[in-house]
Amino acid sequence: MDRPGLAVVVGGTSGIGLAIAGRLMEDGSDVIITGRNAERGLEAARALCEGHSGLEARFQTLDVRDPDQDADLIASLAGRAIDALVLSAAFGRQSWISETPPAVFLDMLQVNVAAPLRLVQALQPHMTSPSSVVLISSDAGVDGEQTLGAYSVTKAAVNMLGRMLALDLAPRNIRVNVVCPGDTVPGMRYLLRPGESQRAETDYLTWPIPPLGRLGRARDTAELVAFLVSPRADFMTGTVTLVDGGSRAGRPDPASHD
Ligand SMILES: NC(=O)c1ccc[n+]([C@@H]2O[C@H](COP(=O)([O-])OP(=O)(O)OC[C@H]3O[C@@H](n4cnc5c(N)ncnc54)[C@H](OP(=O)(O)O)[C@@H]3O)[C@@H](O)[C@H]2O)c1
Repeated sequence: MDRPGLAVVVGGTSGIGLAIAGRLMEDGSDVIITGRNAERGLEAARALCEGHSGLEARFQTLDVRDPDQDADLIASLAGRAIDALVLSAAFGRQSWISETPPAVFLDMLQVNVAAPLRLVQALQPHMTSPSSVVLISSDAGVDGEQTLGAYSVTKAAVNMLGRMLALDLAPRNIRVNVVCPGDTVPGMRYLLRPGESQRAETDYLTWPIPPLGRLGRARDTAELVAFLVSPRADFMTGTVTLVDGGSRAGRPDPASHD
């Protein structure tokens, strides 16, 4: 078989997670997408179904802060085994780490790092062998950003989490890889400044343009994830891969940019 039968995308109702769900359906997979907002999730699942006839896309409510909801996600599998598990839900704060309140940092650690670990632990018995896990991290986890201090720390932790899980799950032939997107539009509705409750939609206008000449699109990351969960990548585990248009390749010559 050349493709996963059932993919679960945690945080799959918008942005990068939603693009991944759609891309995995293009490869012939049924998907379960999760998020907290049922209205957004049901609409996303409906659109995915419409775009991929003969395949199933279902929404399951899941707040990753609440471990009691893991059982509902497992029940939603209806006995099917998972071929691909993608963990994409996360949030950040636009602030220096020295100014990030400890409670906010702990919450970010919980959502961005501890929850993916807990979900892999809970879902791993329901995964086929071979199968695949992809953690969605960030370029900020490779090369930290002062203005996203706490977020950078959590994403660096996600990168090592993926590598350690890769070691643990290899004997079960469950591969674990980490993908680090660069600035991607639209995206990260929860990358807020202190006091903000909604991110400005035009935020991206101030972002630096990567060497390849454009900002990232969710599809860029989805293509890599589709490859990593496919048998074409069946000797790849424990990798951490950037999809950032070259942003983290090194420091460009300032003279080559206006
Ligand atoms: N976009 C970028 O520029 C960028 C760059 C680097 C890395 N990333 C990473 O890519 C991943 C996806 O980001 P995105 O841009 O696609 O963000 P997004 O559009 O804000 O999507 C976030 C998804 O996660 C869900 N979610 C958020 N908090 C949750 C929680 N506490 N419990 C359960 N679900 C939750 C959201 O659904 P609900 O709102 O309904 O809960 C949604 O489905 C994240 O890990 C992010 O760190 C993004």
